[in-house]
Amino acid sequence: MHETKNYEHLLGLVGFSDTLLKNHFTLYGGYVTNVNKLAEKSETMEMGSVEYAELKRRFGWEWNGMFLHEQYFENLSKQSVPLSVDGELYKKITERFGSFEKFEKDFRATGAMRGIGWVILAYQKEEGRLFTVWVNEHDVEHLAGTTPLLVMDVFEHAYITDYGIKRADYIESFWRAIDWKKVEERFLK
Ligand SMILES: [Fe+2]
Repeated sequence: MHETKNYEHLLGLVGFSDTLLKNHFTLYGGYVTNVNKLAEKSETMEMGSVEYAELKRRFGWEWNGMFLHEQYFENLSKQSVPLSVDGELYKKITERFGSFEKFEKDFRATGAMRGIGWVILAYQKEEGRLFTVWVNEHDVEHLAGTTPLLVMDVFEHAYITDYGIKRADYIESFWRAIDWKKVEERFLK
């Protein structure tokens, strides 16, 4: 059983109304419920049946929807701090993208792409490589073997209540609310 995590400490986050955040928490809770339901159901289903196959296909979508929302809420903070310029992650980002500003531009541009999904700064540890990744829905185009360091939700429910269709304005608020300490922590782990 996966427990739904509580992110109410984020209420009052600058650039995010409480209504938007509360709806988003509820939506996240739906993924957790479905992950638990599917996990339980798969125990009793007849293996090899059509229903079994469909349920197996569905599981990744629900699981990733749950996981990515947790990563997203956890890389936001009311006490956001910039990334330390003396840290390893800053060094890695500037090596990879040329400068931190270039990385920011790339991340925002990925978020501005048409469609619904996620933008992820992903890290492949073995070769020490960083990627800015577009994930369609929750489950398409993930880079296998990478770890998400920074996760941004660009489904319409993440911003439309507060920003209408002005996704760039939402991305601006998201950028200001990033908890870089958390992101660095994921990188160092
Ligand atoms: Fe979302």
